[in-house]
Amino acid sequence: MALRERYTTVTIFVLSLLLAAVVLFQLSLAAGSEDTQTGGAEAEAEASASESPFEEGDPEAIEAGQALYVGELGCAGCHGQDGGGGIGPALNDDQWVYGGEAADIHETLVNGRPNGMPAFADAADDEQLWQVVAFVQSLSASE
Ligand code: HEC
Repeated sequence: MALRERYTTVTIFVLSLLLAAVVLFQLSLAAGSEDTQTGGAEAEAEASASESPFEEGDPEAIEAGQALYVGELGCAGCHGQDGGGGIGPALNDDQWVYGGEAADIHETLVNGRPNGMPAFADAADDEQLWQVVAFVQSLSASE
């Protein structure tokens, strides 16, 4: 009887060790997959910050960007309806203070520039800002 009891105790001990091992293993798996998930989301956020989701010259993006430029975002008030300039510099030529690549213009819009260019990161979502970038690029491309 005593022997049998000891045998049972040992069995339970071994079983609970196994169970603990399985639980730990699953926890580490879960933690691992969480890591890869956040990593993926960060990589995506970075991609959207420096690269346009639109093809260069995408007519729908340009049209949407123009609507934001003359409307909601009020760019035209400082840069002119056609980008000819005013309070802000002309955007329809190929001269740039801060660069005319899509990523440069996006950076200008997101963070603003020191001599009077406001930041628009809070005024529009990133996709809209890329639409405005597409429109601004179309202005200088047509000259
Ligand atoms: C309150 C007036 C004002 C508004 C509104 C405004 N800008 Fe500007 N913008 C400026 C000024 C002033 C500068 C020059 C900033 C500098 O030189 O530091 C500028 C600079 C820029 C530049 C950089 C030009 C270069 O040569 O590198 C771009 C691009 C630009 N604005 C686009 C826009 C767009 C697009 C909008 C609307 C989303 C907008 N701006 C709204 C005044 C404005």
